[in-house]
Amino acid sequence: MGVYDAVGGIEAFRRISKRFHHKVESDSKLMELFPKNMVALEERLALFLTERTGGEAVYTGARGKTSMICRHAHLAIGSEEATRWLAHMKAALEEEGVSDAISTQLLSNLTELAATLADPLVHLYGLPIAALREKLEEDPSLAKLNDHGRNLICAAAISWDVPRLRLLLEFGAEIETSDTGGHNPLYRVANGSGNEADGRAALELLIAHGANVNQVTGVGGMTPLHMSARRGTVAIAEALLEAGANIEARDSNGETPLRRAVNCGKEDVVRLLVAHGADPLSRDRFGRTVVEAARSERLRNLLQG
Ligand code: HEM
Repeated sequence: MGVYDAVGGIEAFRRISKRFHHKVESDSKLMELFPKNMVALEERLALFLTERTGGEAVYTGARGKTSMICRHAHLAIGSEEATRWLAHMKAALEEEGVSDAISTQLLSNLTELAATLADPLVHLYGLPIAALREKLEEDPSLAKLNDHGRNLICAAAISWDVPRLRLLLEFGAEIETSDTGGHNPLYRVANGSGNEADGRAALELLIAHGANVNQVTGVGGMTPLHMSARRGTVAIAEALLEAGANIEARDSNGETPLRRAVNCGKEDVVRLLVAHGADPLSRDRFGRTVVEAARSERLRNLLQG
């Protein structure tokens, strides 16, 4: 007999889900994340568990194929929250009278899933810098930790947080680590926005620590220069060029940084790249030149000097 039948079918899962959510309601730590009204969630969890244990696939039919990671991405779930979630589920299964063997089987499956949802670093991202230093002194391995692509240095890179980057590098953070999108810290800086002086300082710090300005990361085949061209961050693009970024690098569509800037209408970066000799006649993989792709007369004029 499979887990679904051994538990007692969908009605048993509905009772388990109800018990589980009652326990969540009296857990003030978890209630910081859960909504007050959990009626809809009760049914969704029952349907999810039904499907996951081999019952009818009604959950996906009703809610779509979005992964559990995406459904939880907006929540600050750390290791402690995951442990509490699992403890409430264990207690709910016990109250339902599910046998130890079946409960252990189901819980080990859910423990694996919960580990992909929980970010062990979630409580460290927003810590004041002095408190983060204390944590790193207690446990320097946190600077290098990469759990399913979650790591402190990419988070600091995204927000152009130079003091935090400096601290993490001091504790041995890795310059070529990658996040959930497969991108490294340098790419994340190039993907950022805000005060460009901070962005430039963040970029220079990473480059001084050996970051490769021409490293392609993620699925689109883009370099950091492609990314800053899309964002229109002139100071970042300039710093990348000064550090030797390849101005004619091609992404997976055969597009150069100049083409990306044109696509996104980022005139200041177009001007900068043209001044540095970027080729307005380079062709993408469909044979279209950058000039042909420009949507306005203004952009075409900029491209033709
Ligand atoms: C194996 C572990 C887990 C499973 C199987 C699970 C399952 C689910 C399911 C099926 C939903 C409904 C999604 C939908 O269709 O809308 C949901 C939502 C939710 N889960 Fe989990 N979950 C798990 C872990 C956690 C943890 C550790 C937390 C945090 C303590 C958590 C907090 C929430 C919250 C707050 C929602 C409501 C999200 C919203 O509607 O905005 N879950 N979960």
